[in-house]
Amino acid sequence: MSSFPVTRLRRFRRTAPLRGLVRETHLSLDQFVMPLFVAPEPLVNEALPGMARFDIAGLLHEVEELATSGVRAVMLFGVPEVKDEEATGAWEEDGIVQIALRALRPRFRDLVLLTDVCLCEYTSHGHCGVVVDGEVDNDRSLELLARTAVSHVEAGADVVAPSDMMDGRVAVLRDALDDHGLESTPVLAYSAKYASAFYGPFREAADSAPSFGDRRGYQMDPANVREALRECELDLEEGADAIMIKPALPYLDVIRAAREAFDVPFAAYNVSGEYAMVKAAARSGWLEERAAALESLTAIKRAGADLIVSYWTRDLPAWL
Ligand code: PBG
Repeated sequence: MSSFPVTRLRRFRRTAPLRGLVRETHLSLDQFVMPLFVAPEPLVNEALPGMARFDIAGLLHEVEELATSGVRAVMLFGVPEVKDEEATGAWEEDGIVQIALRALRPRFRDLVLLTDVCLCEYTSHGHCGVVVDGEVDNDRSLELLARTAVSHVEAGADVVAPSDMMDGRVAVLRDALDDHGLESTPVLAYSAKYASAFYGPFREAADSAPSFGDRRGYQMDPANVREALRECELDLEEGADAIMIKPALPYLDVIRAAREAFDVPFAAYNVSGEYAMVKAAARSGWLEERAAALESLTAIKRAGADLIVSYWTRDLPAWL
């Protein structure tokens, strides 16, 4: 290889078409998932539109707009009418997500419907599992998570995404789905989900902040990357069809490491706090939302994600 003055890397940067020819990373709407919150009562959020809640009628309207604009996939989160110790709202036949799925499925045949499988929005204490003697009991939570996943698929979900971080949940979900004849439904595991401060706006939207303690007894320590690879490996052994790292931007090194270690479909979750930071800065006139969002999403792709769950999915049809 020659060097300057023979080599000038600026030659391919001169014009937009030249830059386009050598661009290494592309954003395509095909690989974006829009998270949506559904609840008995709507909640408007002008400051963070991605953090609003829809009732069923509002959800149908929103999904109609998303689908018409070209969005291919949505992920549903439910906020139930009542919360209890057993997270009944997560798995009951007439839970809010199950109702939403039954409303959406026949109207949007081609839209990919993913569901977040977790108990935190549905438990009275806000933890992601069953609490016994002040601690989240791993094994007692598994059965409820499996019940939740099966009920989602029976109501019309295409993909279930467990986000609870209990040990062994992927195997238990896979078993339960197969027992119900749902062997063709993929499991997208939130394999390495960190105990992150960046979930703040989500917990407000989903009304899921824990009422005591925190999630560090089950979500991962932000300091660890080798452990993230073990989590991915175990989930794949248990039968995960795709794995996810979450959050995305503060964990690009984890995304890159997992991408290199595993040849499987790979997702990253660009979480509520990552979205809110840019929104807040843009509102103060400190940066331009569109440019900052596209740069962030490109970075997540460049690090190795195939699909990205992002609250900006709604804006992408206009931006790309
Ligand atoms: C449910 C769940 C959370 C998120 C996705 N699924 C919150 C949490 O673990 O507290 C966070 C998503 C976001 O911040 O955008 N357990």
